[in-house]
Amino acid sequence: MIKLHDVSRIFSVGGQEVRAMDHVSLDVGRGEYLSIMGPSGSGKSTLLNIIGLLDTPNSGTYLLEGRDVTSLSDLQLADVRSRKIGFIFQFFHLIPRLTALQNIELPLLLAGVAKKERTSRSSRLIEEFGLSGRQHHRPDELSGGQRQRVAIARAVINQPAVLLADEPTGNLDRTSGAEIIDLLEQLNTGGQTLVVVTHDPEIGERAGRCIRVVDGRIAGDTRKD
Ligand SMILES: Nc1ncnc2c1ncn2[C@@H]1O[C@H](COP(=O)(O)OP(=O)(O)O)[C@@H](O)[C@H]1O
Ligand SMILES: [Mg+2]
Repeated sequence: MIKLHDVSRIFSVGGQEVRAMDHVSLDVGRGEYLSIMGPSGSGKSTLLNIIGLLDTPNSGTYLLEGRDVTSLSDLQLADVRSRKIGFIFQFFHLIPRLTALQNIELPLLLAGVAKKERTSRSSRLIEEFGLSGRQHHRPDELSGGQRQRVAIARAVINQPAVLLADEPTGNLDRTSGAEIIDLLEQLNTGGQTLVVVTHDPEIGERAGRCIRVVDGRIAGDTRKD
């Protein structure tokens, strides 16, 4: 599903080079549930952004479902991303002026799906994700946990093969955080490949496979039996 080979990402900041990813190779199979842990600044978000096609490596290769995506144009990347990848962020990244329903159906609008179909698919997710009665609320009228559920619904409405979450519980209290992880795990049980970056060891250890990142390298890769 995801095959990174010898991938590096170097940022230049004020003439200084930062090796955010240093010769990383990683294979993730279809349907896997993977967590990424490591100290702050170790390169977890960089790794996730590269997997999610939000960033491109300076060197190395990346095969997504067997297709080399390292040399695609920005337009091609955006197209693959919109069909294959669902991204969830710590700070939700919802559009403030749109309602929950409008946020959720946005990817369908961009994909040119007709209104009737958009509404029926987003309404189904509203119900499934426990957001009934909140569909016409704007993000600032929702709790953190509800906002994240809207963000997850938006991420999965195109039924992407891969679901990537960067500290999805980092801005939530324990109870809402646990609900969000439960929801992501349900989606993984339904077949979606799930990669979660987290600071919280309790969350990290729930995954079937834990990757530890230190200084832009993979320092550990353990699987549960
Ligand atoms: N856009 C960027 N420009 C410059 N440096 C960056 C950028 N993104 C990340 N970095 C640097 O790369 C390293 C890894 O960052 P990041 O992947 O965000 O770490 P983490 O998510 O593990 O906290 C850090 O040293 C960070 O400062
Ligand atoms: Mg990060």
